[in-house]
Amino acid sequence: MLSRFAQGHPPILTSACSMSEFQLFSDYPLLAHNTFGFDVRAKHAVRLTEEAQIPALARNARLNGMRQLVLGGGSNVVLTRNFDGVALLVELRGRRVIHKDHDAVLVEAGAGENWHEFVAWALSQGLLGLENLALIPGTVGAAPIQNIGAYGLEMGERFERLRAIELSTGETREFDRDACAFGYRDSFFKQEGRGRFVIVSVTFRLPKAWTPRADYADIARVLETSGANNPQAIFDAVVAVRQAKLPDWRVLGNAGSFFKNPVVSAAAFNALKALEPELVSYRQQDGQFKLAAGWLIDRCGWKGRAIGAAAVHDRQALVLVNRGGASGAQILELADAIKRDVHARFAVELEAEPVCL
Ligand code: EPU
Repeated sequence: MLSRFAQGHPPILTSACSMSEFQLFSDYPLLAHNTFGFDVRAKHAVRLTEEAQIPALARNARLNGMRQLVLGGGSNVVLTRNFDGVALLVELRGRRVIHKDHDAVLVEAGAGENWHEFVAWALSQGLLGLENLALIPGTVGAAPIQNIGAYGLEMGERFERLRAIELSTGETREFDRDACAFGYRDSFFKQEGRGRFVIVSVTFRLPKAWTPRADYADIARVLETSGANNPQAIFDAVVAVRQAKLPDWRVLGNAGSFFKNPVVSAAAFNALKALEPELVSYRQQDGQFKLAAGWLIDRCGWKGRAIGAAAVHDRQALVLVNRGGASGAQILELADAIKRDVHARFAVELEAEPVCL
């Protein structure tokens, strides 16, 4: 085992190290590793730049006894306090076409690649079909965990397989789409697989025959104005809509939608619709109804309101923001107050989308 235990931060970088060598940082600041911008620290951290470091971590007895937290872009996590374990910062890079067949191109990307840059790169290479997912914060490796989705497309629809390493054994496993059990903002990695794996790379199947996904009203409106309907136009429209509605986490810390859109039975939907004729909803294939949580929260008067520096975004009530100096605990306090109000008024239970630690 070649691992080194560096004390303090920042450490002296190792030179000419073996691929499996890793350095352990102590008292590591996570401010730059969570998009809410919470100023918390990890007792230890390791920057994973080589896959071979992960089995080496698993073999390390000292690290095996510690709690481990895998962090990509930190865009779907609420860090409520300092982390008393080792943060694994995934920085595995690389993107390449690995196969072409009659219908599709298979593209593989390292888990640490920035998601938006990957989507933009794919488009620039003529690899199409991801443009609706432009500008989603986070990394490629985080995308399957919550099956990111936006503007009529979920990542699962473009997914082929992923490679992950089990932390307890150091063994590499491949997961196909079935094994990932994708659902709405959900997967195996948010359920039974939670915290057990480091995803190291993801392979996407991008169709050669491009068909636009432009039904989503916000996108259709922008395309109508520009008169264009090609992959670049959809990419540009998605970027424009997101920039208009959603806060940039570099300016105003946030984790995107804080709640999932709740799904209710037809009976519950009918009862609500009778009381609230303007209720925004989407009928699901199984006959249930997905409700726009942003609308429910907005209707309860929460848009723009705050508890301390934890606030509801003033252009999208589904997004909670850190106005500066808020803690994770304050964000959770705000989220609880919203949940209570929505439940009291609509009898609907909201569920948080990010993982709260
Ligand atoms: N609405 C309001 N007030 C608000 C917010 C929304 O009335 O403050 C209404 C809107 O007018 C619209 C409806 O609610 O009629 C839905 O709003 P929007 O189109 O903004 O989408 P959303 O359902 O709130 C979901 C995803 C977003 C994704 C968009 C576009 C979830 C939890 N959120 O939001 O994903 O970008 O659709 O597809 O499914 C994310 O997951 O982090 C995320 C941003």
